[in-house]
Amino acid sequence: QTGLITLDLGYKNTGATLSDITYLDGDKGELFYRGYPIEQIAEKSNFTEVMYLLLHGELPNQEQFLQFQKNINKYNYVAEEMKKILDAFPRSAHPMGVLSTLTSALTAFNPKAVNVKNKEDLDHAAEMLLAKFSHLCAWTYRKTLGLPLNHGDNNLNYVENFYKMTFRMPNQDFELDPVVVDALDKILILHADHEQNCSTSTVRMVGSAQTGLFASISAGVSALWGPLHGGANQAVIEMLEHIEQDSGDVAKYVAKAKDKNDSFRLMGFGHRVYKNFDPRARIIKKATYDVLNKLGIQDKALDIAMQLEKVALEDDYFVERQLYPNVDFYSGIIYRALGIPTEMFTVMFALGRLPGWISQWKEMRLHGDPIGRPRQVYQGAQQRDYVPMESR
Ligand code: SDX
Repeated sequence: QTGLITLDLGYKNTGATLSDITYLDGDKGELFYRGYPIEQIAEKSNFTEVMYLLLHGELPNQEQFLQFQKNINKYNYVAEEMKKILDAFPRSAHPMGVLSTLTSALTAFNPKAVNVKNKEDLDHAAEMLLAKFSHLCAWTYRKTLGLPLNHGDNNLNYVENFYKMTFRMPNQDFELDPVVVDALDKILILHADHEQNCSTSTVRMVGSAQTGLFASISAGVSALWGPLHGGANQAVIEMLEHIEQDSGDVAKYVAKAKDKNDSFRLMGFGHRVYKNFDPRARIIKKATYDVLNKLGIQDKALDIAMQLEKVALEDDYFVERQLYPNVDFYSGIIYRALGIPTEMFTVMFALGRLPGWISQWKEMRLHGDPIGRPRQVYQGAQQRDYVPMESR
């Protein structure tokens, strides 16, 4: 409070820019990519097509789609020297820290790609990053297991290629399980863009200084790592596992989440914009059941998640604060069913969000947005004279 006005600090509801890419209505729980409802996109589209839609504003025809795939496949490798950077990390390094470093390092190996002067340059840099980033995501996981680092296979589509680069075991045939590929494709679509969230705003802010695309996206990866943002999907599974180990006492943890003296929060619950069900959570919840049934998996974490959701949605504390499950509440359960380890969950979020980050960065550069420079409300010391050391 400063006298007459109440300040809602911290970018809580600032109109930071004009955008044509993604619209969401938090009260209605609606999300549209370039005007198309997320429910229709998730059901009828595929991740490569969504990349094109976000980047170019329209769904591609057959010729445009094939050309886009070809353009991406042109860059379907990563400079061998990049492996030396990866080697320098301990196996215990969190994949998000490795991914942010490697993404920024792409600038050193592709310096021309970041000197964008027009739309063609932007699209060229975008296609290069889309191709190489999926390698970096796969490599961060392979590094933790000491597995050889694969390159892309241009006979596969984008999601199949990522899946094979990540999970192919040396000297073994590799089978693409269509249930896993379809589920991965859908989850990546659901994470593809989300207007001016924390990591996207970071990409725009860094890019507004005319920083190159790779370094701007690297900053977005770091922002997404935070447990209040993309890191929540890992935090949700750790929370569910903790509740399971603690006799599955869901009521105890809902009470902890409400206790102001307890720093515990129900991870995967609440959202800055959605004051209704996150539409992505609804879709992922259904997909989670489908995948677990098709793969014949029983996961206690899902049972606990369902109990948590039921208890919380009937509790005044959550109802009054309009706290509902968000995209991260179920995604960890489906990732685990697909064989993706917990420490890779946020990397999966980054891979999904990449086309959104790039599209927003491209829009910011094409619009010629000015360098971001927010102001503040100063409440520090008033003017005063310097005091020499001997007089202090
Ligand atoms: C993502 O912005 C995006 O679009 C993000 C994202 C995307 O696609 O990019 O959707 C992805 O980041 C989803 C959110 C993932 N994070 C979590 O699940 C972490 C748990 N959620 C909370 O930390 C929180 O809900 C936030 C960070 C998501 C939103 O925080 P806000 O809007 O700043 O809300 P707040 O912290 O001001 O809380 C308002 C009230 C407070 O209580 P009071 O002070 O009014 O008494 O609600 C309470 C909070 O204590 N609250 C929670 C809670 N979330 C908010 N209480 C318990 N558990 C929670 N999860």
